Amino acid sequence: MAQLHPGSNFLGIERQPERVAKCNARTARLGLTNALAVQGTGEQGLEPLPDSCCAVFHLYFPDPWPKRRHAVRRVFQQGFLAEVRRILSPGGTLRLMSDNEPYFAEMRELTRSGWAERDWEDGREAVPTAFESVFLKLGKKPFRACLSAVQESTAGSP
Ligand SMILES: C[S@@+](CC[C@H](N)C(=O)[O-])C[C@H]1O[C@@H](n2cnc3c(N)ncnc32)[C@H](O)[C@@H]1O
Repeated sequence: MAQLHPGSNFLGIERQPERVAKCNARTARLGLTNALAVQGTGEQGLEPLPDSCCAVFHLYFPDPWPKRRHAVRRVFQQGFLAEVRRILSPGGTLRLMSDNEPYFAEMRELTRSGWAERDWEDGREAVPTAFESVFLKLGKKPFRACLSAVQESTAGSP
């Protein structure tokens, strides 16, 4: 994506330091100056970012933690979503993809109010993620949604 869109900056937030290093080694090898991976975990990983700094937030194939007792480890929770909303610029979009139907349903439930669905095709050329490629090769279509935060109405305020 960074190669395809040299006019945009890409920031990747990943929990595992070795994956961060691998990603940065790859972007360096490709000579890209518009992509950076940093180590961060979930909601806390977004806290250092300023308000309205992000045009598109990609959350693709977050770990589903399918066992009920592990569900608290899921990254997509109210606090995380509030942070995503804070860093998205007005009109910015949150793009979600998952192969796990129950987790995807939970994401849609949490975004049922305050978010509006947009067309997945936004006119920008995209490349499949590693996980997406695996599922596409298996003939499976991941669940996906593109959402934008509904701006709070100021109508009626003094
Ligand atoms: C299933 S992989 C998906 C990778 C990639 N998005 C794709 O579509 O190919 C999930 C990635 O998210 C990272 N991860 C899991 N939980 C995280 C969290 N709470 N914060 C940041 N990264 C996390 C994992 O280390 C792993 O690299």
